[in-house]
Amino acid sequence: MCGIVGYIGKNEIKEILLNGLKELEYRGYDSAGIAVLQDRELSTFKAVGKIINLENKLKDFSTQGFGIGIGHTRWATHGKPTEANAHPHIAEFSNVVHNGIIENYQEIKEMLQAKGHHFLSQTDTEVIVHLFEENLKNCDDSFKAFKKTIDTIKGAYAILLISKKDSTKIFYAKNGSPLIIARGEGGIYFASSDAPLIGLAQEVVYLEDGDIGFMQEGDFDKLQNIQPLNINKSFAQKDGYRYFMEKEIYEQHSVLLETMMGRVSEDRIALENLDRDFFEGIESITICACGTSYHSAMVGKYLLERFAKIRVNVVIASEFRYADFVIKENELFITISQSGETADTLEALKLVKKHHLKTLAICNVDNSSIVRESDRVILTRVGIEKGVASTKAFASQVLVLWMLGVFIAQEKKLINAQEIKEQAQAMLKATKATKVDSKLHERIKRLSKRYLHGHGFFFIGRDVFFPLALEGALKLKEISYLHAEGYASGEMKHGPIALADSHLFTIALMPEHLLFEKIKSNIEELSARDATICVISSQECEVADDMIFIPKASSYMEEFFSMMVALQILALEIAIKLGNDVDMPRNLAKSVTVE
Ligand code: F6R
Repeated sequence: MCGIVGYIGKNEIKEILLNGLKELEYRGYDSAGIAVLQDRELSTFKAVGKIINLENKLKDFSTQGFGIGIGHTRWATHGKPTEANAHPHIAEFSNVVHNGIIENYQEIKEMLQAKGHHFLSQTDTEVIVHLFEENLKNCDDSFKAFKKTIDTIKGAYAILLISKKDSTKIFYAKNGSPLIIARGEGGIYFASSDAPLIGLAQEVVYLEDGDIGFMQEGDFDKLQNIQPLNINKSFAQKDGYRYFMEKEIYEQHSVLLETMMGRVSEDRIALENLDRDFFEGIESITICACGTSYHSAMVGKYLLERFAKIRVNVVIASEFRYADFVIKENELFITISQSGETADTLEALKLVKKHHLKTLAICNVDNSSIVRESDRVILTRVGIEKGVASTKAFASQVLVLWMLGVFIAQEKKLINAQEIKEQAQAMLKATKATKVDSKLHERIKRLSKRYLHGHGFFFIGRDVFFPLALEGALKLKEISYLHAEGYASGEMKHGPIALADSHLFTIALMPEHLLFEKIKSNIEELSARDATICVISSQECEVADDMIFIPKASSYMEEFFSMMVALQILALEIAIKLGNDVDMPRNLAKSVTVE
């Protein structure tokens, strides 16, 4: 979720880098930094928090005449958001910025430490700049040293490196993380997405995986595949999607990999800062949250009880605060929050702290109030969520709760190595299931026009698909303003079925791997009352009026993640057809910091 910029030219380097970083800030903003190289003088500045903090630090710094510079805005994955962990990373005479992950950084770090290199950060990135300088000891060609560095590292990266030893060049390499080189009247620009280039550059080259090289003044024409840059700002920020919500739905499969990174391996689940001791003596868990996060908490109850064999109580934060519920001593209190600032959740957390409960936050924003108040934290790592209707945050919360369930089971020795392996594989498959299939999107888009009227929607499901039904209904409500409710499908006959007629739309979640036949009988009851039924499943269901087919899966959780995407797209397409502002629906705010 980080962003990169770079510049070679005669204009004010600081301004260009800062403006570029501001364009990328929405991706992540726990820290930022720039490095400027002019007249063999290398100046590096870093600050924690928003770009404005970096800007304030740079008040007395300016450049005149030719120079080069690189900049970075960070969303922490390896190591806390501190100044030391912020980019650019520094060795003796070179600086580097990097997006992505260096998988073999540990062994490189040990090798370099043995040769006397000192490291200042907890990041994987820092090894790049040290390795470059180490390689340069044995050769006098800096590009050769850079190439040797890139040949050694494994993983995904977009890298910019500058060095006093070759002070007019920016070295670059790309593999699996986007990087663009551009030319405008002011010089040559680098960026990890189009947004910072708009208004500055007229021509661009979108680098391919495996591209490696260097740029200096006048070098741009040596590049291949130069294209004109003619897009507007809002298009660029949304990476070409119509709405941030749509972009966030589409990026789920990649950000969920970040959620799992370093935590899920074939033989083990490892959650940083959590160990067996933390769960010692815990007899039950209360999960507290609001809205979408509350729905993920409900999914968590099924998963934690199933894997960790622990009693889980789920509460809505605004209810919990004033209800005088019984708080037990040996209870773990988990809060779930995308923003980490939701007033009700935060106050509930403060309340239980007075009872000295152990607390754990599942949150997307490091350093947020809820994170700071909690004993431990599991960050969901999905980057900033801009669409008011939460999508990728929900997906990551469910994934974290699943990991937590398996983790506790592993620590309590409730599952064996083979079962851990199966769960790890299922998690990977579930993540992949969120990759949006264009045919599925097209099918839902066409179908959506049949669901714009009627007197309401029922979303129904069982087990973990019950909270998913609640979430599907909430998504639709929020952005389409149509009336929608989620129900446990077995509950229909206890009242809600009274509403059934042909103008009542039922969206039924029918996983092949979980209670398929049971849900089918509930649907038959609705069909007998003439309700219009749209089934989401990998299996044909004869009583359905419409089918949304998801791919065949090997576990119910894989089906869960596929169906989640289908529900998100259904809400999106209905809202777009109704002419609503999907990213900023009426009456709603992204972060609810009031009671
Ligand atoms: C719905 C949505 C809200 C939030 C709720 C809690 O799409 O986003 O229901 O889930 O306001 O917010 P967080 O998770 O930030 O505590």
